[in-house]
Amino acid sequence: MPISYAPAGKTGKWDGAMDWLQMLSGICLILFVWCHAFLESSVIISPELLNTIGHFLEATGMVQVGGPLIFLVFLAHFVLAARKIPFRFEAQASIWHQAKMLRHGDTWTWIVQAASAMIILIMAAIHMWVALSDLPITAAKSAARIQSGGWSIFFLFLLVLTHVHVGAGLYRIGVKWGFVKDTERAVFLKTVTMIVFGFIGLGLITLGRYFFMSVN
Ligand code: HEM
Repeated sequence: MPISYAPAGKTGKWDGAMDWLQMLSGICLILFVWCHAFLESSVIISPELLNTIGHFLEATGMVQVGGPLIFLVFLAHFVLAARKIPFRFEAQASIWHQAKMLRHGDTWTWIVQAASAMIILIMAAIHMWVALSDLPITAAKSAARIQSGGWSIFFLFLLVLTHVHVGAGLYRIGVKWGFVKDTERAVFLKTVTMIVFGFIGLGLITLGRYFFMSVN
């Protein structure tokens, strides 16, 4: 059967531009997730420090304006990436089969990224809605939330999925756009893996601090 390729020209140009936007929105989100992790971890030092940071971000409007903006970048990033995610069962089964045959690490990082993206989209949207509709952000309110219902399990999943997704994304940006040479791939992958474990560790300590904080 003859293989048909997308026509060169306009389509190719647009596709290239969308690839760029996908990478740039991805970089914005990576920086946001890392900043968010560091800011949240201030609760480990003291709840008052987190309250002061929260107060500053709200008094300057950064939460009220930045929050919805991040949500828009988040949505745009998903829509741009969704161009390449197969939503039909037959296409998914075929990718799964080929990945197993190829035993190719970079194909697996792509599958991890596409699968985690769907779950993160739903979970982070719920989390952002709850956080932004219950301002001001205070350590006591967050602790009460994390100690009630299934929120601690929710955050455990969101924490691991987010940092694995971010790590896989960072690795793919480095390799795909040629920032990392072939000879540097192994070291880059090791560094990214260490960063991912570092952030998951930091998030676990943050969640633990909330979980065991006295809320009375
Ligand atoms: C508008 C943006 C956001 C705001 C204002 C916000 C705020 C917060 C707050 C206040 C907490 C403490 C728990 C709580 O009170 O519910 C928290 C925890 C957390 N958030 Fe967000 N968040 C935002 C976006 C995101 C996004 C986009 C992600 C991931 C994709 C994320 C992942 C997490 C995780 C994993 C935790 C658990 C603690 C930690 O790892 O630091 N958040 N966030």
